[in-house]
Amino acid sequence: MNGITATGKFIALEGGEGTGKSTQGRMLAETLRSTYGLDVTVTREPGGTPGAEAIRALLLDPPGEGWSPQAEALLFAAARADHVDRLIRPRVAEGAWVISDRFVDSSRAYQGGAGGLGDDAITALHKFGSHGMRPDCTILLEVDDAVRRERLAARDGDNSDAIGGRSAEYHDAVAQSFRELAKSDPAGFKFVDGTGSPDEVHRQMILALSVLLEELPR
Ligand code: TYD
Repeated sequence: MNGITATGKFIALEGGEGTGKSTQGRMLAETLRSTYGLDVTVTREPGGTPGAEAIRALLLDPPGEGWSPQAEALLFAAARADHVDRLIRPRVAEGAWVISDRFVDSSRAYQGGAGGLGDDAITALHKFGSHGMRPDCTILLEVDDAVRRERLAARDGDNSDAIGGRSAEYHDAVAQSFRELAKSDPAGFKFVDGTGSPDEVHRQMILALSVLLEELPR
């Protein structure tokens, strides 16, 4: 990872809504602690620090008529800059494994791809805000569009937030953007099929991390 030499690792879980990231993040943390004896921090975006959580509220429950696409991207980047500087980098430097439910590839897929701002704009904001930091491994949890739509309806009903509540076409474009990002960087991403039971998906998550786990001192 950029500029950090400790044995800590930074893992990002990415994917559209209803792909099971939060459940899988918790299960992963539990196994990394109990089976591998690791010091683990689970966090999320937007959020993870007091400042970034305040920005999260502005983003997901926006005042007035909502944000322009550019303002939205800047707010996500600002929340991420605080999260990286105040939580992710310090914890990784201490040797912890940090698991984040979403990171910059969410901005690339939602704001850059589905939102139409393009990848260069999001990458430039990330370079300025967060030193262009990349995770040691990004796991893309995938479910097909029909399963995702069903899970979303069951989860949110009429109570979705400002971004979760966007059109099915927007969310299909997010999923497509994620697939393209992952295909363009096979070394940085691992695909995990999120369709099975939580335990089945968890087994695949551990397999996806096997290279990093094999590096651990025994
Ligand atoms: P959250 O409730 O955490 O979503 P989920 O449980 O579905 O993962 O809300 C985060 C929302 O913010 C989600 O709709 C995705 C969106 N988002 C972006 O649009 N860009 C970003 O950079 C990030 C981190 C999230």
